[in-house]
Amino acid sequence: MLQMEHIHPIFDRILGREDKEKLLGQRGRVLWLTGLSGSGKSTIAAALERRLYEQGLLTALLDGDNIRSGINNNLGFSPADRQENIRRIAEVARLFLQCGLICICSFVSPTRAIRNQARHLIGEDDFLEVYVNAPLEVCEARDVKGLYKKARAGEIKQFTGIDAPFEAPEAPFLELNTAQNDLQHCVDLLYGRLIGLVTPG
Ligand code: ADX
Repeated sequence: MLQMEHIHPIFDRILGREDKEKLLGQRGRVLWLTGLSGSGKSTIAAALERRLYEQGLLTALLDGDNIRSGINNNLGFSPADRQENIRRIAEVARLFLQCGLICICSFVSPTRAIRNQARHLIGEDDFLEVYVNAPLEVCEARDVKGLYKKARAGEIKQFTGIDAPFEAPEAPFLELNTAQNDLQHCVDLLYGRLIGLVTPG
């Protein structure tokens, strides 16, 4: 039986991020996809996640579908609620990061201040900002969820790009133009930039 005196001091027993990264054979990072609704963030995130999975890399995917319907289902789209939305997401991403996972976050996260808050919580070196860029006209023409139509009709207020601001990142890790490039090309670009940062050197 394990006696108390055989248990190592606490500092020997704490498992750190590096232990878990070693276990997984990868390095943790947070990939933060920002862009207008309909710009292609979720599609790219899902395709990238599959690509990483096929390479034996463990990811976590956070996006509106699993966050706004669950942990953040008490939040709307006022500036304060968006800030709280992103704060909680960044905190969750940080926990995944500490487990050595590649955490892919796909959120409008419309202002520089909001994204800087996430960057600050996650840490400059681990926060990889990806601007998924498509012109508003293109996103609006796609109108995958029919929300732009509603926003134009005044049925949804404070819709990003219509009557709420979107501030493009100034110096993103990568910018993907989804109006000019197809999904495969965007995922190839992103994977190519990312892979050296998530695999042991
Ligand atoms: S964020 O601004 O707080 O980062 P988030 O990414 O979680 O937004 O959610 C954006 C998604 O919610 C959009 O893709 C869209 O489907 C939906 N949505 C509903 N109302 C709004 C709104 N007023 N502005 C932007 N997106 C909205």
